[in-house]
Amino acid sequence: DNERASASASASPPHVLIFPLPLQGPVNCMLKLAEMFCLDGLQVTFLNTQYIQKCLLNCTNIESYFQRYPSFRFETLPDGLPEDSSRTANDIFKMLDSMEAVSVPIFEEMVTSGTYGPSSEKPITCIVADGIFCFAVDIAKRIGVPLLYFDTISPCGLWTYLCLPKLIEAGEFPFKGDDLDELIVNVPGMEGFLRRRDLPSFYRTKDLNDPTIQLVLNEDRHLPLAQGLIFNTFEDLEEPILSQMRKISPKIYPIGPLHTHLKTRLATETISNSIWKEDRSCIPWLDMQPIKSVLFVSIGSLAVMTMDQVLEIWYGLVNSGTRFLWVRRPGSVVGLEKEFEIPMDLSLATKERGYIVSWAPQEEVLSHPAIGGFLTHSGWNSTLESIVEGKPMICWPYFVDQQVNSRFVGEIWKLGLDMKDTCDRKIVERMVRELMESKKEEFLQRADQISNVSKASVSKGGCSYKYLDKLIEDIKLMTL
Ligand code: UDX
Repeated sequence: DNERASASASASPPHVLIFPLPLQGPVNCMLKLAEMFCLDGLQVTFLNTQYIQKCLLNCTNIESYFQRYPSFRFETLPDGLPEDSSRTANDIFKMLDSMEAVSVPIFEEMVTSGTYGPSSEKPITCIVADGIFCFAVDIAKRIGVPLLYFDTISPCGLWTYLCLPKLIEAGEFPFKGDDLDELIVNVPGMEGFLRRRDLPSFYRTKDLNDPTIQLVLNEDRHLPLAQGLIFNTFEDLEEPILSQMRKISPKIYPIGPLHTHLKTRLATETISNSIWKEDRSCIPWLDMQPIKSVLFVSIGSLAVMTMDQVLEIWYGLVNSGTRFLWVRRPGSVVGLEKEFEIPMDLSLATKERGYIVSWAPQEEVLSHPAIGGFLTHSGWNSTLESIVEGKPMICWPYFVDQQVNSRFVGEIWKLGLDMKDTCDRKIVERMVRELMESKKEEFLQRADQISNVSKASVSKGGCSYKYLDKLIEDIKLMTL
């Protein structure tokens, strides 16, 4: 090992190609990972779809990457969709199919015989790809470079994906009957609290051939074939799940929460990698609000809601009397083509104690002292950002890992309330009052505790800090 370590010190640095799923969440995580690799002297080529690259060019200071990291470069390929095509939750399959047909062959050529192939001037020596990219296993094998999968959803969510074959074999999936409160037995580590309704919502199909189910089964077959799995989590939060994961892949690297991990390793401000323009006017508005008085409301970059749901949440917020800052991403309300007249009572109350933006600088918002809670769709990045800032949550999950995340937030981590499968103004009002008034201190105390643990994990000597060092060391050894 000593010999290999000194050889690794003298060899030229590994060249890692990072290929994220072209969505805000995964791009966020992978760019942060890329920065941390560069800080350690690795060369990084970051492969974006042209669509994502254009969004980044429009909304962020992309030059900062090149100024900070001479060993960093972006590469692009088409996703095959028309430019004005929607790329939200309901279109994921369209995007994946299109990428399969258009992007994958280009990627393959790029790393086998093209710009980054073994006989090129700058061959890649390692691939880090999103866990959903099953095609990466064969390609990495063919060019003889190690592959690491980075699944940017929560490990607790991913574990329910990995247990799908077991659920099918045991006859627990597809569900028999319609009782969503029945407990699930065949997800080790989640016995006793995981109900059918807490599994990803696509498990509610009765059809084994459902495309999402088939996609998950395919991912289940491929994930264990990688040389390691990278996760955006920290050991203290998900230890029982991570020990289950070790059974399918001995090399796992829980290195999160990534956004705050990067901050601890950088001496300067982090670069925003938002793919929408942030409306910063909410910060001066927050500055004028009392400490911990505002509920932040956001459903992330993919989830959508109906106009009825908007109204139920809106009335619930207004009737609770709380102050709120609400992100209404363009395109996130389905069926809003026609002109909508806002009821007078809502509009008055919103002027008085609410603020609405189309996209917020979320990390900064969550760290603002005026924020006292977060009504979230329980996307994994949002959940971790809230955990780090010690902000309790009301969870209203939409899809993929979010149903699992919200169960953990409510039942296991005791960091908030799970509102899944309902959207009723009375329930919203009750939960907001509980989070922001009657149980406020209790929730804040708990959130503060876990926030401290999360920060310790990314500080020098903390678990995530050590795992990142180990990951980089392993990449160096594997690419010798
Ligand atoms: C998706 C899935 O929905 C999620 O379940 C999965 O865990 C990751 O991929 P998304 O829906 O976008 O992600 O949610 P989330 O993971 O929470 O990521 C959203 C990101 O956008 C966060 O980093 C958040 O800070 C950022 N954001 C959101 C903003 O910067 N501004 C906003 O106004 C809203």
